[in-house]
Amino acid sequence: MTRDKISFLFEQRFGQTPTAISTAPGRIEIIGNHTDYNGGCVIGAGIDRHVWVAASPAISQNIRLASGPTGPVIEIDPRHEGRFSGPEAWANFPFGAWRSLQDFDLPRPPAFDLLILSDLPEGAGLSSSAALELATALALLHLAGQSGPAPADLAAIGRHAENTYVGVPCGILDQGVSAYARKNHLVHIDCRAPAFSLLPFPPAACFWIFNSMEKHALSDGHYAARNRECQEAAVILGVPWLVDLTDTSLAKGTHLLSGAQSKRARHVVEENARVARAVTALEAHDLVALGQLLTASHLSSQHLFENSTPALDSLVDLLHRQPGVHGARLTGGGFGGAVVALTTDRFGTAQADLVAQQHTAHGHPRPDVISLRTADGARLL
Ligand code: GLA
Repeated sequence: MTRDKISFLFEQRFGQTPTAISTAPGRIEIIGNHTDYNGGCVIGAGIDRHVWVAASPAISQNIRLASGPTGPVIEIDPRHEGRFSGPEAWANFPFGAWRSLQDFDLPRPPAFDLLILSDLPEGAGLSSSAALELATALALLHLAGQSGPAPADLAAIGRHAENTYVGVPCGILDQGVSAYARKNHLVHIDCRAPAFSLLPFPPAACFWIFNSMEKHALSDGHYAARNRECQEAAVILGVPWLVDLTDTSLAKGTHLLSGAQSKRARHVVEENARVARAVTALEAHDLVALGQLLTASHLSSQHLFENSTPALDSLVDLLHRQPGVHGARLTGGGFGGAVVALTTDRFGTAQADLVAQQHTAHGHPRPDVISLRTADGARLL
């Protein structure tokens, strides 16, 4: 989306030109499922699907938020406390980002007009929420005369908005990758610190995203329930983070845990080890090993973390039957959303269509298929 087009749409909606325009990409999680809030590591990448935000100081005393070129406008008294729900729930992301700025002692405009545009599917597990939080925070800081914060700080502001004002106890993965992403690179996050680093995009690797079109929503309670089970298991086993356990210390303490807690803990400990092995595989350009790790990750999500769905399992299964597929797994929170597949360039649009067709023949909605191109992180335009 060009700057001119965004300005034009903003003027149509608000009758003034925007003072700031920003963008942030969606992300895929390559590996590291639910390791982030357990003190572990994760690898992701920014994807070439974005949220754009245009903003100007308000003419009135209120905050006005517009979703899309023709979608609804919500007018908010800046003194508003509490969350929006139902069809207005989307306002929690930009309004939460604005509130978050104050919690970080950063300047912010007292009231503003803001337009949101996006080509990032919502509910696909590709982090449209994080992208919106980051793009909003950047644009509003600019309105308040502050130049862009460091990516790590921007990620923290976005995560705080999500945790506090949206109410999802997420880790740093989504906001961290959307802030830190770089074209032709993967992002590695050691989430405890957190510490961010870039890994070169593996030569000869192709990634595909299959959006199951089954809406995944972090705010529906499943995500928080898994997070709680993990925290409980860590407390019972006397460790600050689940990833502080080894296979042996976990096996010794398993009798103290409920069946569910024990499965969640095993998933997290083993998944974190898989992320470390994935780094080694990437350094060695060993895509076969990386693919096997992706597939092992999916099986663990399916059977131990229990955040997969029949549609995601079907996509992973069908992908594995195609030549050129190294591995596939669900990406992001789970309970719907998308699958990511690592392939050689033998796997092309024809194979992707075939998988989509076979999946549909099993009674699932037709998946939306995206061939991954990486993108840069959040920035002002
Ligand atoms: C969602 C959350 C992240 C992370 C993933 C699962 O994307 O927002 O913090 O926990 O799920 O790995």
